[in-house]
Amino acid sequence: MVSEAERQELSPTSTSYLAKRVTVKVRKHVSLNLNVRGLEQSATLAINEKCRELRAQGQKIYNLGLGQSPFPVPSPVVAELKRHAHEKDYLPVKGLPALREAVAQYHRSQDQVAAQGDFVIVGPGSKELMFLLQLVFYGEIIVPTPSWVSYVPQARIIGRDVQLIHTTFEDKWRVTPERLEAYFESEHDDLRPRILILSYPGNPDGRSYSADELKEIAQIASRFEVILLSDEIYGRLHHEGQHVSVARYYPEGTIISSGLSKWCGAGGWRLGTFTFPPDLDWLMEVIASVASETYTSVSAPIQYAAVRAFKGGSAIDRYLIRARAILNALGRRCARIVLEAGIRVHEPVGAFYLFLDFTPFAEHFAERGIKNSTTLCEVLLEETGVAILPGQAFNRPPWELTARMAYVDFDGPKTLAASEDLPLDKRPSDEFIENFCGNVIEAAIIIGDWVSSQSAKRIGRTRLGEVMDRGMGNLRSFTGESHLS
Ligand SMILES: Cc1ncc(COP(=O)(O)O)c(C=O)c1O
Repeated sequence: MVSEAERQELSPTSTSYLAKRVTVKVRKHVSLNLNVRGLEQSATLAINEKCRELRAQGQKIYNLGLGQSPFPVPSPVVAELKRHAHEKDYLPVKGLPALREAVAQYHRSQDQVAAQGDFVIVGPGSKELMFLLQLVFYGEIIVPTPSWVSYVPQARIIGRDVQLIHTTFEDKWRVTPERLEAYFESEHDDLRPRILILSYPGNPDGRSYSADELKEIAQIASRFEVILLSDEIYGRLHHEGQHVSVARYYPEGTIISSGLSKWCGAGGWRLGTFTFPPDLDWLMEVIASVASETYTSVSAPIQYAAVRAFKGGSAIDRYLIRARAILNALGRRCARIVLEAGIRVHEPVGAFYLFLDFTPFAEHFAERGIKNSTTLCEVLLEETGVAILPGQAFNRPPWELTARMAYVDFDGPKTLAASEDLPLDKRPSDEFIENFCGNVIEAAIIIGDWVSSQSAKRIGRTRLGEVMDRGMGNLRSFTGESHLS
């Protein structure tokens, strides 16, 4: 039997019942770490989901949002994974010794740096290793922008401040040695521990540094005793195969970040590598300690297969030459198309991205209520089905009308197979690119047509409001607005 007092207690209108509900609600609300409140899903993953959703509704979508290699994992590497599917033991936290040595050997031969297996650590993606580095390091993180989407959110999760150095279109989105020197000098604090993150070939701009620029940057970093985290995940995807690592000029202070995700087309395998100089082993050791208390080690079969990937050989070399040639031809073709439409862009030299600057259309956009990169991408997707990522997601000022186009929405396995009939030393023709990457070219043309038609069009606030109301407001998460503002 429920007593009258208990019945009162259980009544949804009783004050104690309401108080309990309120307490529960409040407790749930406050039980989130302050650093992660308002944190959204990573911008690139969010756009992928949005595209999937729109496709499921029957819309034709061009997904130029997600930065994933379109190419398959080279077949010798897949064969090695199959051969090792039975491997089931936990492996050492820093990685399989044979893999650590293979990674070191790979950097020695590809990058001419004196890497040693004892100073390599393998993690579940370089993203995770970067997170751990930011976690264990005591000091300041410096990031030139536009920058890859995750460096800054990682810092925010950990609760550290990041210093952004904004580059310009005129400097081809690269931090110049002069700019860097001026930055460090203006700080008047040579003793502060600092890590500068460099990404080249760059995401989101597909640009890189010349050997001379790297030499100068190395000298400045050495002078101010700054550690370089050299994110070279796209190094092997330099379109001319001419990637140079800054570690060549500053070996004692550079951590090289790499992995299988981009050049080997194996993003979903989750394997990244950090190669430390011996002087920074104290950082590697503590990263390994944290790793041992969190993910333990990378999946065993993947590590065995990765040994094959890093050892390379002629089949993998041919795969890379063909992949680069396709990206080279396609990247240039897309750049030409958007340039002709009046969008500002630099030709890419590596990776698979173009960073588009729509500033010449600012006035026409403003008349339509498009005053920032997020709205620009939302309206573009709504009106044309082309998905690109707003510059704000790459830490550019929100009002700047920039966006990243990833030119990867084509059938990579088919295109790669067809390229086997072409001479190895030639870039594929325009015709080849049109035949196999037509979707991406079409998307570039659509973007061009769309901006060209801007001056003719006007949409009122109501129309824009409609777009937002129909769920496009979700796209705000592409910018990670709440945690990047
Ligand atoms: C510039 C850059 N760095 C690092 C990563 C992380 O790669 P992963 O964690 O797959 O090794 C990515 C992935 O998109 C990237 O674009």
